Amino acid sequence: MICSPSFLSCDFTKLESEIKSIDHAKWLHFDVMDGIFVENTTYDEEMVKDIKSISSQFFDVHLMIIEPKKHVDKYINAGADLITFHLEATEEPLELIKKIKKSNVKAGISIKPQTPVESLDFLLPYLDLILIMSVEPGKGGQKFIEDSLTKINYLFRKKQLNNYKFLIEVDGGINLETAKRVRELGCDVIVVGSFLFNSSNRNQLIEELENV
Ligand code: DX5
Ligand code: ZN
Repeated sequence: MICSPSFLSCDFTKLESEIKSIDHAKWLHFDVMDGIFVENTTYDEEMVKDIKSISSQFFDVHLMIIEPKKHVDKYINAGADLITFHLEATEEPLELIKKIKKSNVKAGISIKPQTPVESLDFLLPYLDLILIMSVEPGKGGQKFIEDSLTKINYLFRKKQLNNYKFLIEVDGGINLETAKRVRELGCDVIVVGSFLFNSSNRNQLIEELENV
């Protein structure tokens, strides 16, 4: 699996060394929160630009914001490689997917724990990635929600049946135990925040997670 570290739980007083401490990860997960779609506010496209100068990783940008259509261009121009927005935040997901892909950026969509996975069916042929939230979006350090497992399995079967190309990413409460369980059901990418940033040997843990 691919490990996409979320630095939401890192020590922001030493951001550069924190990012360097996870440089074995091929991806880097940005948790953008606007304080409206979710209660918390984190960072915006400026953070993407700043970190672009110290990292050559694949930038996996998770937009937990309302009106994503209004903001995607800023993240495209800031250097995002993948932009994931929430199905619950837009009335026209297909249009937004096409807009992102037209700029040669990968397009992903995310659903919150209480959103049925079947609501994504009409978008599956167009997506590069689906992000299953295994915690309520808004903060790190929460417990993995077991129901996410059925969503992963549903998407994996759809993918096999129809030969769809999308990656399945899971985000929230990931540790060595939950990483193994999601991999067994067909997950391709895991977002890991607090489990990684609470540990001292992060690059070694990244390798363990990727090979769980
Ligand atoms: C939550 C974010 C997640 C979170 C993961 O809203 O989308 O990426 O930071 O953190 P952990 O791994 O601590 O659950
Ligand atoms: Zn996230």
